[in-house]
Amino acid sequence: MNHSPQKRRVEITWLGHSAFKLVSSTGKTILIDPWLDNPKAPAGLKDGINADLILVTHGHSDHLGNTVEIAKRTNAKVIAIYEVSVYLESAGLGNVQGMSKGGTVNVDGIEVTMVDARHSSTIETDGKMIPGGEAAGYVVRFENGYRIYHAGDTALFMDMKLIGQLHRPHVAIVPIGGLYTMEPRDAAIACKWIKPKHIIGMHYGTFPALTGTTEELRQHLPMPMKSRVKELQPGVPITL
Ligand code: NI
Ligand code: MN
Repeated sequence: MNHSPQKRRVEITWLGHSAFKLVSSTGKTILIDPWLDNPKAPAGLKDGINADLILVTHGHSDHLGNTVEIAKRTNAKVIAIYEVSVYLESAGLGNVQGMSKGGTVNVDGIEVTMVDARHSSTIETDGKMIPGGEAAGYVVRFENGYRIYHAGDTALFMDMKLIGQLHRPHVAIVPIGGLYTMEPRDAAIACKWIKPKHIIGMHYGTFPALTGTTEELRQHLPMPMKSRVKELQPGVPITL
């Protein structure tokens, strides 16, 4: 049996909507799009949650979420596209790394690459909407080589095939709710291109308007890929 820390896999917890907590093989905690006031998030979570690193895919409030308060409390480093990073600094955060698509940031051995997404991005602040650059996705490459792709909010786009070829993610986390993002049918096409070992749906079930389900995602996948879809329960960690 090999239970050495280097071989430990990554623990993934869905926190509802597009919010995820990833714990690396060396115990570092990454939050992606930590909107922990979402209707599916476990109650009281945001006040105690730990974070070393926070990744923000775009400026919409259901993704930027509680980033500022969590980062202030934990002093986590926050990574976002340049325009959102400038906003976060203006909101009082000191440990912010702005970047853009195609770039990679290495944070204590964890490599974070920002990739494309097809969506808009604005930031609501003081009752106004300010431009948030473009929406993005992330590929996180952990210390042990494990790779997770979080697609952010996006339509289906052909270059998801390229993301799969370049990064060969073990896990793809894709939006399936529809209306503002891909529906399950398109998410299934994305997964056929990306070829991940495990598939996790997000951005569904939060509101009645986000109608896609993981069961529909399974229906649209070819037989050998159906069992790759993991239906997560908010707050319940899984290790893949
Ligand atoms: Ni959005
Ligand atoms: Mn959204």
